[in-house]
Amino acid sequence: MSARPNTAVDTTVSTPLAVLGRDVTVPLVTGGEVTYAALDYAASAPALQRVWDDVAAYAPYYGSVHRGAGYLSQLSTDLFENSRRTVAEFLDCREGDQLVFTRSTTDSLNLLAAALPAGCQVFVFETEHHASLLPWRDAEVTYLNAPRTPAEAVTTLERALADRDPYGPALVCVTGASNVTGELWPVRELAAAAHAHGARIVLDAAQLAPHHPLSVRELDVDWVAFSGHKLYAPFGSGVLAGRADWLQDADPYLAGGGASRKVARRADGGVEVEWHSTAARHEAGSPNVIGVYAIASACKALTEAGFDELVAREQRLVGVVRAGLAEVPEVKVLSLFGDDAPRVGVISFVVEGWNSSHFAAALSAEYGIGVRDGLFCAHPLVRTLLGSDPQDPGECGAPESEPGERSLNAIRVSFGAGTPEEHVERFVRAVKELVAQGARWNYRTEDGRCVPDTASA
Ligand SMILES: Cc1ncc(COP(=O)(O)O)c(C=O)c1O
Repeated sequence: MSARPNTAVDTTVSTPLAVLGRDVTVPLVTGGEVTYAALDYAASAPALQRVWDDVAAYAPYYGSVHRGAGYLSQLSTDLFENSRRTVAEFLDCREGDQLVFTRSTTDSLNLLAAALPAGCQVFVFETEHHASLLPWRDAEVTYLNAPRTPAEAVTTLERALADRDPYGPALVCVTGASNVTGELWPVRELAAAAHAHGARIVLDAAQLAPHHPLSVRELDVDWVAFSGHKLYAPFGSGVLAGRADWLQDADPYLAGGGASRKVARRADGGVEVEWHSTAARHEAGSPNVIGVYAIASACKALTEAGFDELVAREQRLVGVVRAGLAEVPEVKVLSLFGDDAPRVGVISFVVEGWNSSHFAAALSAEYGIGVRDGLFCAHPLVRTLLGSDPQDPGECGAPESEPGERSLNAIRVSFGAGTPEEHVERFVRAVKELVAQGARWNYRTEDGRCVPDTASA
């Protein structure tokens, strides 16, 4: 763990993409108001203005998808299916890949878990977000120890795969960018290792897709999953895209209308169902056309803005934050792969002498900065990085000690294409002030959250 960045900081940060909420002001406990600095993109990013405008322009034309004869139903169905093509293009999917719209990354990975062939072995690093760690309950799962370098990740996987039954199906699940450290994982190399051992691989791109262009074809992953709400499209949709065969062969994720092609009563009194073999097989019920259109709109917006330029801009913000934190000896940045690892705008840290929940509460109440504190639904990873007991399950996001006590949690700051430079500068200044001068207000724990004590300053 170290906070020393090795890159010079470029202070010229160009204009952010327009997002909703950029003019929202929030009250400070110390008096007055300030523009809210949303620095919790890794949880949910604000909606792009473009996404909001596209959704608003479509809303009067909203109609049922795949079922109505009317004009607006036809229009909505076209919009839904065109959105599928737009997102597939954004992900650079292969010919023959299927793209299923889901509710979220969690939903996508649970869908894939439900579609595993019989006897499938699953390999997953203990460092994963719970959405990648937990859905494989019905499979034989091998949990791989946290690697300390990207190369070690590959050798750890290779070793585990070498021991497996080479004739049975196997799946590796790996994250593209950590929701704790922001570090990029060696996805292409892990995919090559998986394939060399006859296994398949699914990429959890919840934190990668919003921060980095990604190509299913180039990374050679079998599936990719991500969420709309982390990609500036918070309307309740997600994506699972990739190989069609396991999805086509599996029982529908949800049984119902839309997934079924033909349903008839049998002579014995039962019901005979012919299920769709396309993505519709796993999209039973009325689809969330607004959520799906919002994702497609976000994909277009990022592409048209120049995703590479957005990445370069975000990297400059990463440099500003890491350089600022490095100037505070009490701050320890959490890292698995070290300072040189490429990373996205997600940085977790602890502050010596501070409970993380207390620190995060002070950032909010005294500076109008929204970050997250806790274990970030990646308990084993955060506990490994903090050096605390990895067996202790803890609560997701709950503070574990009173303000002032040593923290077993961390603080996470995260940002992206909509983040103004002022927000990260204010964050760095706030960290320095809090560490040097302490909080200006008293805090107490209420319902598991650290909150300003309104009775006392
Ligand atoms: C790496 C990673 N995977 C999966 C998820 C789950 O995403 P969702 O809550 O949208 O299902 C998250 C959410 O924070 C995440 O960071």
